[in-house]
Amino acid sequence: MKSSANFLSILVLLVFLAAGNARAQPQPILINCGSDSTTSVDARTWIGDSSPSNNFTLSFPGAIASAAPAPGVDGEQDPYGDLYKTARVFNASSSYRLAVAPGSYFLRLHFSQQFANLGAQEPIFNVAANGLRLLSKFSVHGEISWRDSQINSTSSVIVKEYLLNVTSGKLGIEFTPDEGSFAFINAMEVLPVSGTSIFDSVNKVDGHGLKGPFSLDGSGIETMYRLCVGCIDVLARKEDPGLWRRWDKDEHFIFSLNAASSIFNSSNISYVSADDPTVAPLRLYQSARVPTESSVLGKKFNVSWSFNIDPGFDYLVRLHFCELQYDKAEQRKFKIYINNKTAAEGYDVFARAGGKNKAFYEDFLDAASPQMDTLWVQLGSESSAGSAAADALLNGMEIFKVSREGNLAHPTVRIGGISGGARKPKRSPKWVLIGAASGLIIFIAIAGALYFCFNLQRKKNSSANKAKDNLHGVTHTRSPTLRTAGAFGSKRMGRRFTIAEIRTATVNFDESLVIGVGGFGKVYRGIMEDGTRVAIKRGYTDSHQGQGVKEFETEIEMLSRLRHRHLVPLIGYCDEQNEMVLVYEHMANGTLRSHLYGSDLPALTWKQRLEICIGAARGLHYLHTGLDRGIIHRDVKTTNILLDDNLVAKMADFGISKDGPALDHTHVSTAVKGSFGYLDPEYYRRQQLTPSSDVYSFGVVLFEVLCARPVINPTLPRDQINLADWALNRQRHRLLETIIDLRLDGNYTLESIKIFSEIAEKCLADEGVNRPSMGEVLWHLESALQLEQGHPQSTNGDGCSDPQLKPSDVPTRVACIKEVEQSTRPGSHDSDGQVVDVKIEVP
Ligand SMILES: *[C@@H]1O[C@H](CO)[C@@H](O)[C@H](O)[C@H]1NC(C)=O
Ligand SMILES: *[C@@H]1O[C@H](CO)[C@@H](O)[C@H](O)[C@H]1NC(C)=O
Ligand SMILES: *[C@@H]1O[C@H](CO)[C@@H](O)[C@H](O)[C@H]1NC(C)=O
Ligand SMILES: *[C@@H]1O[C@H](CO)[C@@H](O)[C@H](O)[C@H]1NC(C)=O
Ligand SMILES: *[C@@H]1O[C@H](CO)[C@@H](O)[C@H](O)[C@H]1NC(C)=O
Ligand SMILES: *[C@@H]1O[C@H](CO)[C@@H](O)[C@H](O)[C@H]1NC(C)=O
Ligand SMILES: *[C@@H]1O[C@H](CO)[C@@H](O)[C@H](O)[C@H]1NC(C)=O
Ligand SMILES: *[C@@H]1O[C@H](CO)[C@@H](O)[C@H](O)[C@H]1NC(C)=O
Repeated sequence: MKSSANFLSILVLLVFLAAGNARAQPQPILINCGSDSTTSVDARTWIGDSSPSNNFTLSFPGAIASAAPAPGVDGEQDPYGDLYKTARVFNASSSYRLAVAPGSYFLRLHFSQQFANLGAQEPIFNVAANGLRLLSKFSVHGEISWRDSQINSTSSVIVKEYLLNVTSGKLGIEFTPDEGSFAFINAMEVLPVSGTSIFDSVNKVDGHGLKGPFSLDGSGIETMYRLCVGCIDVLARKEDPGLWRRWDKDEHFIFSLNAASSIFNSSNISYVSADDPTVAPLRLYQSARVPTESSVLGKKFNVSWSFNIDPGFDYLVRLHFCELQYDKAEQRKFKIYINNKTAAEGYDVFARAGGKNKAFYEDFLDAASPQMDTLWVQLGSESSAGSAAADALLNGMEIFKVSREGNLAHPTVRIGGISGGARKPKRSPKWVLIGAASGLIIFIAIAGALYFCFNLQRKKNSSANKAKDNLHGVTHTRSPTLRTAGAFGSKRMGRRFTIAEIRTATVNFDESLVIGVGGFGKVYRGIMEDGTRVAIKRGYTDSHQGQGVKEFETEIEMLSRLRHRHLVPLIGYCDEQNEMVLVYEHMANGTLRSHLYGSDLPALTWKQRLEICIGAARGLHYLHTGLDRGIIHRDVKTTNILLDDNLVAKMADFGISKDGPALDHTHVSTAVKGSFGYLDPEYYRRQQLTPSSDVYSFGVVLFEVLCARPVINPTLPRDQINLADWALNRQRHRLLETIIDLRLDGNYTLESIKIFSEIAEKCLADEGVNRPSMGEVLWHLESALQLEQGHPQSTNGDGCSDPQLKPSDVPTRVACIKEVEQSTRPGSHDSDGQVVDVKIEVP
């Protein structure tokens, strides 16, 4: 039976091969658009689309644009950079027509953001292949911001990849600019994909584990994500020769890095089925993620990944597995969930592969409803299993979108995702027309007209263009670059102290003068020779604390740029003898926390607490809006709010670098637990820092001020351990009053508490986009203070202090917030417009 089936399949294969030979073999076609020569990239030859020897035609030639090569990522030369020097630009619909043998192909479209700044208009266009709509109202800026709202990429290139089944022998790729806009393309790849391994056995995720072939027949597929799970580096295209796929790291998509750890084993991995490197390169299988020992985190977690998707499509999820640890079956059995539905149970990688170090994959198909914009992939232990078989493992993951009714496109211009991380164009290029260099008069006319068009529009629309830039800039919440240009650049201000002065001030770093200990080092109280009382922060200098150096530089640079009544002033620093010392003004009244609990200091009144919160909010508001790019504090907590002799609040500690230890899984036991109670769950989930993460932490601070208890108190009953959860719970049951600090002794107005707790609750919204800005928080706190002082009505008639004003009274609120912002904003700045010359030439 079996052998006859084998015989049959061999026969089919032979027939297929014979047929394939009779027709033309599918060949890769690589096109460097806008170029007239061949280029070698990745040891592959890319043909210029204006070179005469090409195998395709272009229905309307458009124009050619060229630019200086885009600087690569982090100064490294982009290996594909040579392809991004030129582009083909269309002001009207045009098609590339290629002759290809029937078969399945990857089509990759390369777009460099540099060319999206070409004309006055942002290029917005549609792309279709053989009638299948691939891109609709596509904006490179928008796409980059959407990507960067999920991953931490510095690349200014977008590569879109599609899998198409070409039956006719012709492939037409059509670019259609939006009304009044233009289209462009830098490079295209058409790569044959061997037909046998594509989605021949797909599990439908409907809880029944049905298997069935999935045919590409008539449909197309877009690659949404391709991840090397647990990899330290991306798997670059050149490591996947044949299909030249790029496998990204999964860490930006994993729900909680702490819940999973990476394992590696590079020895002797092989494919389960006949060697088929088209499935994935072997290196993909050399690393994997497994759940972190549950003893570390205290309870069992699913290992979860989440992805932004376009609603209303079917998605194919391909999971790659290879057991790297266990030598026998029944050691690791787990459940696979896709979109919270069980896709597989009792999954035993060893058993399915028939051994260790054997690589295979499994495909799942699930539909996204029209509302669903997130796809979840989760691995969980079998509920009843004991400690032994309660593990999971994943090596790689690919997510593909399946076309529906001839369409694969997201219908509107994308803007940044959940964190709204839209990015302003990096450069504003200058146009230069190089006139009729070649003798082809007809093309001169076209180029001339294009130039004229663009320039006319540029003049006409330069204000509209600004508005558009703002559209992208308005949601600009990317965290600022905190890196200093070089060690100890000239940006620092403040006095430079000698180490002798510092030693004198602290009695040679006497332990009895320590007033605080943090990740950076110890903080000492001290008196300078002139009698100034100071706080001296001394960084650890051991080499293994290397990141301290970076934080030190960051903090010096930032603090010297930041001057505000509600920020702790930096007096100077000392960098002698490998010391890293910062000298701050001493805050006589210490941390806010020490006035809330855990000391014998007298209780603060409600009014004092409100004033302190307002001060801290002003400090944060200044950080978020004050400088040109906004600064995210990253570690808002009551021990970082200091009080001077008059109990004026000052924010301290901006030195936590983005690359800090907080989310590094090697620091699970210390760093994460240390600030757990304040950590924005969305940041935790997405690893994407936005000012709204500070707002979340500030919400926790507000409840801490109200309730005067630690944000995490493990000695309390389970539901009360986490203050944020508990306060929200009480708030929702209208029982908040039961947990207010008893030391306030009822000395507060309920209206004030109400406004205060409502804004605190808003700060704790699950999603950053639903949280208020610091400006709004500030405004509500001021209302609460006015109510407390018995001036509930507005003092200047502008309605800004009217506590009855509902968040829905948008116009008044906006006016008020604007006012607050204006009064604190020190001045506007323009962006660092680096100019790149872009030339347009006649083909
Ligand atoms: C054009 O196609 C032919 C046949 O498929 C091939 O031999 C030739 O190398 C191709 N030319 C280029 C420039 O790719
Ligand atoms: C983000 O990218 C920067 C620069 O490439 C890198 O230094 C940093 O570690 C990345 N952060 C995360 C959370 O991946
Ligand atoms: C491509 O289309 C042909 C004809 O419709 C079909 O026979 C073939 O199975 C399809 N290939 C794939 C990989 O789906
Ligand atoms: C990696 O796999 C090889 C071969 O199975 C095994 O001998 C070795 O112990 C493994 N290494 C680790 C670190 O698990
Ligand atoms: C590597 O794998 C092959 C095939 O599975 C096996 O024959 C060979 O013994 C393995 N080598 C080692 C060192 O494990
Ligand atoms: C794991 O995920 C599934 C699906 O979302 C969910 O039903 C289950 O409760 C989760 N298990 C744990 C331990 O969180
Ligand atoms: C699926 O599970 C995730 C994480 O457990 C959760 O955030 C999400 O809301 C769930 N989705 C649905 C549709 O239940
Ligand atoms: C595109 O440019 C050509 C120049 O030859 C011009 O004739 C045509 O009107 C332009 N099309 C649009 C839609 O602007």
